[in-house]
Amino acid sequence: MRFPVFDIRPLTPTIGAEVHGLDLNLDLDASGHAALSEVLHEHQVLFFRDQRITAHRQREVAARFGALQRFPFGEPAAPDLPEVMVLATGGDGPKVSNADIWHSDATFMARPPLGTMLRAVSLPPLGGDTLWADMESAYRSLSAPIRALLDGLTAEHDFAKSRSHRGGDRDALPPVVHPVVRTHPLTGRRCLYVNRIFTTRIVELGERENELLLPFLFDRAARPEFQVRLTWRPGDVALWDNRSTQHYAAYDYRGPRVMHRIVIEGDEPR
Ligand code: SIN
Repeated sequence: MRFPVFDIRPLTPTIGAEVHGLDLNLDLDASGHAALSEVLHEHQVLFFRDQRITAHRQREVAARFGALQRFPFGEPAAPDLPEVMVLATGGDGPKVSNADIWHSDATFMARPPLGTMLRAVSLPPLGGDTLWADMESAYRSLSAPIRALLDGLTAEHDFAKSRSHRGGDRDALPPVVHPVVRTHPLTGRRCLYVNRIFTTRIVELGERENELLLPFLFDRAARPEFQVRLTWRPGDVALWDNRSTQHYAAYDYRGPRVMHRIVIEGDEPR
């Protein structure tokens, strides 16, 4: 079905917008989808509030943005939905996720996801917000000499650095090297591309230099000026550009929080 009209309401000067007037149960035609993709690249994170879609429909919607990636860890939402991963946190047991550390999804892969779609299935009464950071603004906020230094460097990313991914197949996922500053393949904008969960070291620097420089770079994501925050409602869907943003799931709640996540295949960062 065609659904040609939707409204975009930007949420901050740099990152995040709500999409209004779009029921994700209805198909966009090609031009509507192209318009939505453009809006995604402009605002980097889109929120579709109060949606009523199933996990199967979520997969269909995400697949409009590219091939879906099977994530190497975690539980699928159903046997016939291997691409829809359940993120269940906040139960009575120990903390099971370290998504409360700023990161981009799966930068430990040679071709990290270009985007992620997350849907709120069940939420705690309070808390459990997600925050996103605009890493293009983070890069632009650095002084010219620091940008010039970073532009030529590469960094190692390793899934083993992340405690939440214990149990993954270490041999199947050796560390990978990506540029410290990547260029968005569609917009040409540059962003800071290191994150605290997966980046282990800048290859060209010594150990002490890494100890000093990396925490400074990781902390750029934590500047409120570069952020947008979503207080989830059941059914809400967030879609983000995983190349130019980082995110952080606030762990300030008790009681189960269940999300369905799909990642969309990306390319080799350059
Ligand atoms: C994630 O880190 O991909 C999940 C974020 C969230 O659960 O809010």
